[in-house]
Amino acid sequence: MLLLAPDNWNDYELIDCGGFEKLERFGRFVLARPEPKAIWQKSLSGADWTQMTHTRFVTGAGFGKSGKEDSGTWQTIKKMPEQWPVNYRKEGLNLQLRLGLTAFKHVGLFPEQAPNWDYIFRTVKALKAPRPRVLNLFAYTGGASLAAKAAGADVLHLDAVRQVVTWARENMTLSSLDNIRWVVEDALKFVKREARRGNRYNGIMLDPPAYGHGTGGETWKLDECLLEMLQACRKILLPDDSFLILNLYSNGFSSLVADTIVRNVFGEIKEQESGELFLQDRFGKRLSLSVFTRFKR
Ligand SMILES: C[S@@+](CC[C@H](N)C(=O)[O-])C[C@H]1O[C@@H](n2cnc3c(N)ncnc32)[C@H](O)[C@@H]1O
Repeated sequence: MLLLAPDNWNDYELIDCGGFEKLERFGRFVLARPEPKAIWQKSLSGADWTQMTHTRFVTGAGFGKSGKEDSGTWQTIKKMPEQWPVNYRKEGLNLQLRLGLTAFKHVGLFPEQAPNWDYIFRTVKALKAPRPRVLNLFAYTGGASLAAKAAGADVLHLDAVRQVVTWARENMTLSSLDNIRWVVEDALKFVKREARRGNRYNGIMLDPPAYGHGTGGETWKLDECLLEMLQACRKILLPDDSFLILNLYSNGFSSLVADTIVRNVFGEIKEQESGELFLQDRFGKRLSLSVFTRFKR
């Protein structure tokens, strides 16, 4: 099992975590956000946190308490813009993403995903197809879509929420990329239709949530729908010169769960690897955030 974290990222740092919170720097601005997995003690004092923070997300449960942590409000401590750009540069991959303070504590970027972007960039570049076709499902603001596009793929980016697709399009322009195909639709419905149409892909990335809705009111439930989704993906992923990445944040699933369901659907593949994505703070504390499994064949 692999444990992967972003490294040497000028525009992002996990400063400290603990007491059900994390303190992060995104570019020039420092944000304090709830983090239910940070069940240990902070390394810095409360006064240090307040002195560094530009804005903190406060929930109904109260700052620094466990509980329903994703609805609340941002409390500005030091002046900062509502939206601002950050860069991600690594071995030829050069992205610029627009961040923003959302009502659900998110900022439009999951920094722990950086090792997956590196993998996508490297893997797409190594494919034999002159213009590999890559599908990003549950694609949110598009970090993975941009990494595939920057490596030379024809990318189709799909999400059920129009506003996040518009955000991803902005990120494409900021990153000086173009020609990503945007689809606002239910992910499972789309993949099944692609199978019927005979459309095939060299790469599929999927980061499905625990629970969601398609554009036609379809209900997505991770535990009930993931098997059907992977079986549909199997029909549209080319047998050779192809790759797949499954990332999971939800249901407490381990990387072994992700690994097993993918082997169950796609069979044994030599180049399959699985693990956790984490962020490491200044004091060496490691905050595990998601699990992944990925293969190339
Ligand atoms: C966990 S986020 C993905 C995070 C993203 N991969 C990243 O790393 O930045 C899940 C996304 O799935 C979308 N979604 C939820 N249900 C969906 C459905 N049935 N079909 C398509 N997209 C859906 C949401 O709008 C949301 O943008």
